[in-house]
This record gives sequence, C-alpha cells and structure tokens, in this order.
Amino acid sequence: MELSKLSHKKIGICADHGEFELKEKIVPFLTKNKFEAVDFGAYVLDNADDYPDFLIPLARAVADGEVSRGIAICGSGVGVSIVANKVARVRAALIQNYFSVHQGVEDNDMNLLCMGGRTIGYASVQELVLAFLNAEFIGTERHLQRLQKIQDLENN
Ligand code: RB5
Repeated sequence: MELSKLSHKKIGICADHGEFELKEKIVPFLTKNKFEAVDFGAYVLDNADDYPDFLIPLARAVADGEVSRGIAICGSGVGVSIVANKVARVRAALIQNYFSVHQGVEDNDMNLLCMGGRTIGYASVQELVLAFLNAEFIGTERHLQRLQKIQDLENN
C-alpha cells in the first residue's frame, strides 16, 4: 500500500461504540502512513455512548480548519453522516466504495469521510482512508459553482 503523499495533514477521527475497535486500528494506521491523527473519542468502549458527542467536536474542527480532514465511524455510518452535514462548511458522506471516496474529494471537496464499521472490513477501510486522504479537490469552475450554491444554502 502506497504511503501518503500529503505528510503534513492532521486528520481528526472519531467513533462511537458501533466499531470503537475500528478507530483504535485506524489511528496507528494513520500514523504509519505519515498522517498526524487527532482522536476525538470515544476513548473507551461504552455501549451507551452517543455518536453526536464525538462527531460534533470533530465536525467543528474540520469546519474551522483545526484538522485538515475528518474520519467518522459508527455502526452503519448513517448517524455520523447525518450529524456531520448539519455543521456549516462540512461536506460529509457515507462511503463504501473506492470510486466515490476519491471523486467525493475531487469533485465535491468532501472533507469528512463517514464509514459504517459494521458494514465493511478493515482491508476496505484501509483503502478508502488512503484514497480519501490522498485525493485533492480539482477546483474547476463548475465544481466551484456547485460549492458556492451549497454555501449560499448554509448562509441562508
Ligand atoms: C449502534 O448503536 C448504532 O446505532 C450506531 O453506531 C450508528 O450506527 C448510528 O447511526
């Protein structure tokens, strides 16, 4: 697997109890691939925890540029993706395939990757994470125009 081309990146990550263990594997995986991982919790496995408690601080850190990009995990990936997109300047999606993860960055400037820890295996997660972090927004006029319309909606 290819090492990161973007060694300067600080990446925020969070997970609830719906695959807490997956986050615990991704953090050292990020470090091994020369990313700086910032862990927003959970810090212990607690089957009663609530994903918004970890996701909201992570999403705000992405929106404010405190971290370059974010990775959020819950059991299905649905809960974290719903919450993430309520934070202005966060462009999050629940992704399970390679094409969508790199095109999501290239065309949509996706800055927060959501995954369902109970829906995909660790080998796929590793590929998705690297594809997400190594992709860059293309920034052509038509893509910028679409992002402007999203920003207008957020400002309305
Ligand atoms: C587990 O409680 C599960 O419901 C949660 O992790 C997540 O999948 C919600 O969207």
